[in-house]
Amino acid sequence: MTTSYEQVLDGERRGVLVGALAFAASAAIPGTAPAATPSRPVRKSIEALTSDELRTLEGAVSEMMARSKKDIRDPKGWFMNAESHNEFCAQPGIGGANQIHYCYWFLPWHRAFLAVTERKLREIAKDSSLAFPYWNWSAARSIPDRFSRPESPLSASVRYTPKRALADGEVDLFVNDPIKKALVVAALGASKFVATPQTDPVKLARELADSFGGLPRPNAFGRFGNSRLEGTPHGPIHNYVGGQDENTGAVGDMGDFETAARDPIFFAHHGNLDRLWENWRGRGSNRELEPKGKAFLSHPFSFPWLDGSTVQVTVAETLNLDSMGYQYDTLEVSQIAPAGEFKLEGFSPKTLPPILQADVALPLTPEAASGAPKRYVLLLEGVRSPRRPLTAGVYVSPASNGGNEARILVGNISVVPSGGKYSNLDEVLVFDITAAVGVLKTPQLKVLVIPNSLGGEERRPVKALAFRRARVILD
Ligand code: C2O
Repeated sequence: MTTSYEQVLDGERRGVLVGALAFAASAAIPGTAPAATPSRPVRKSIEALTSDELRTLEGAVSEMMARSKKDIRDPKGWFMNAESHNEFCAQPGIGGANQIHYCYWFLPWHRAFLAVTERKLREIAKDSSLAFPYWNWSAARSIPDRFSRPESPLSASVRYTPKRALADGEVDLFVNDPIKKALVVAALGASKFVATPQTDPVKLARELADSFGGLPRPNAFGRFGNSRLEGTPHGPIHNYVGGQDENTGAVGDMGDFETAARDPIFFAHHGNLDRLWENWRGRGSNRELEPKGKAFLSHPFSFPWLDGSTVQVTVAETLNLDSMGYQYDTLEVSQIAPAGEFKLEGFSPKTLPPILQADVALPLTPEAASGAPKRYVLLLEGVRSPRRPLTAGVYVSPASNGGNEARILVGNISVVPSGGKYSNLDEVLVFDITAAVGVLKTPQLKVLVIPNSLGGEERRPVKALAFRRARVILD
């Protein structure tokens, strides 16, 4: 039996949850301003939950986990809920029919998955105000305590998290670029939602680097790739929480899309990404850039409901938080300490050796080339998968000093396995280095790619990153 998301809401209104939700009749019309519904449950930062709210959430998660322990196939259990993510994500390769990563289903699918999971917890807790908290990793640079206390179900998962804080590059913060620094999460600067499919890998990469939502599906060229947001910061947080076992090299739950949704922190990470999506939509007329066609809006996603039936959520429904039945306490990303002043308690930075070094010459200065303002864009071409989980910072420094000082972070690379496969590294990587060029003031640059430790690199060093060439072009 298939139920629409609307009917799930209806069920809530009829049952114990009467009065909990004002349901907007305009739900299916994207872009319509939602009626004010102060009763919509509020997603807060994990630190902001009251102890009662935390207890209710933990109780409901525990209950779902206990059900799975008794019967792993129980549709009311935690494991079967997480299996939705596995089914949609761990397709062979990246192009499976159900794959919702590496394309423009990424944001709406995860929004729907979170909302359905949250509603299950609400139903189990019999608490109409329950909302799953988010983890603002821009501010809290390591796993929040409430997700790591051993006695809490919120920590019940396989994790080999490295003993270090998240680096700037992993949370998409660039302190040497005034524009990106002001955004805090640089992906918020993406100027389009949809990337236009391209056969040429360089053109494709440049489209993706400027897109918040990713490539359409299906598309004429059958291409896939990470949108600006999906690559970093999305990927590095998965790799960081999952980490790698020092001895065996095994990755934790969050480090493989097949198992990621078994870790409760998955929902807090994606909650934050979902919040960033709302932030992006609120900038200028970004919301208008989202696709208006039926192929996007009418596309349904299906999830198992608690009784084993199927609930459907359309993309159009996901475009309206009112119809999704939750809201955020704030969309601000910048309620954090000024960049560069983070306290990295107990963190001794052990820098790993670079896995890629290349000298590049700058093309003519923008002024000399045409007089019109232009940007310097670094391209790494023909990149091949390192065949292991990888998060790495991309730096430039003056070629003359051997690359040992004055490094400036210009980008980040992340490879997250999916179903044990490592096929998702984009073939061409694109980084805007205009601000760094302005600081370094030299025509010869060295490019360095330096991995962030995920654990056990002493025993299993990260090999050099295979690539064909590095070059800088003028935009
Ligand atoms: Cu579906 Cu963050 O992965």
